[in-house]
Amino acid sequence: QELQMNLEQIEKGGYDHFMMKEIYEQPNVIKDTYRGRLHANEGLIKMAGIEDNIDKFINAQRILIVACGTSWHAGLVAEYIFEEFARIPVEVEYASEFRYRNPIIGDKDVLIAISQSGETADTLAAIKLAKEKGAFVFGVCNVVGSSISRETHAGAYTHAGPEIGVASTKAFTTQITVLTMIALRLAKAKGTLSISDYHRYLSELETIPEKVSEALHTNDSAKAIATVFKDATNFLYLGRGYNFPVALEGALKLKEISYIHAEGYPAAEMKHGPIALIDEQMPVVVIAPKQGHYDKVVSNIQEIKSRSGKIIAVVTKGDEQVRALADHVIEIPETSDAMSPLLTTIPLQLLSYHIAVMRGCNVDQPRNLAKSVTVE
Ligand code: G6P
Repeated sequence: QELQMNLEQIEKGGYDHFMMKEIYEQPNVIKDTYRGRLHANEGLIKMAGIEDNIDKFINAQRILIVACGTSWHAGLVAEYIFEEFARIPVEVEYASEFRYRNPIIGDKDVLIAISQSGETADTLAAIKLAKEKGAFVFGVCNVVGSSISRETHAGAYTHAGPEIGVASTKAFTTQITVLTMIALRLAKAKGTLSISDYHRYLSELETIPEKVSEALHTNDSAKAIATVFKDATNFLYLGRGYNFPVALEGALKLKEISYIHAEGYPAAEMKHGPIALIDEQMPVVVIAPKQGHYDKVVSNIQEIKSRSGKIIAVVTKGDEQVRALADHVIEIPETSDAMSPLLTTIPLQLLSYHIAVMRGCNVDQPRNLAKSVTVE
């Protein structure tokens, strides 16, 4: 028993929970994910699974992304990135919906399946269906040799290392890293980004691990904010553009481990429903980095404020406008709009973690959830 305890302590590497260890591993695992693939100095991205099938991607009529849970959120981020960088139409679907709706799909389609475990039953079934219909199927998995990695025609691993915490953290950011590299590679092949933008993004991706380390310094403010809101019964998360999926993911993290009801919404959709929920009891997490639709988000924040909602804003370092409106701000380093999800996600992971710990929840093994869902 004691030996078992000590082993677990060692495995947690000095952290109280696997989740925290995995959150803090992100700078390193993102680097592991792009190591040997991203060559910013030479202006190259080398991924064997992509190079070998580059024509399939270039000629794709569209890219379909299927996944579940957090991996589905990474797919949504990828939709914005692929369309912006490579100008290929993208559709993102829950694997469970896709597989049962007789989807229209053919040999001009590329399907990307995203899965940390590589074992999710719905995602696996979606892959089989797409293959039957002649699509080229590409996997983005973390677990090497997993069922999905074997069932796909080609793929790219995320190299996040084992993820033990049921709530996914480092798998998400490394999935986005892989998908960003793929989008950049395709942008180069298709000439859809200017040469200078292409090089700028490559260099920027290289700086992300360092900026994630800096974003981890928000831990103290996340903890302080958790103290204030740990007893809340509802949370709203808002973001726009690249950060809309981050809002969904922030809300999912909170639900999963703290059992607080939380909803993620595109900020502009607030007026079509959730605004009715806002009163002084409602904490609203707003993702408002300087790049992107900043002014629009600021007016959304004003709408919340005028209804006495409590505003927790994730902002770019040095921001003053949102600071003047928000009840709490969390600062992250500056980066481009497209790469901001890799940074804005970090304080949201930390916030959920601290709230869950303060509520006495089992952070690593939340009730009713499984790390890998191998049944329907
Ligand atoms: C489960 C896990 C989630 C995960 C989802 C998809 O619900 O608890 O963390 O995002 O499955 O898993 P996959 O392994 O396919 O990414």
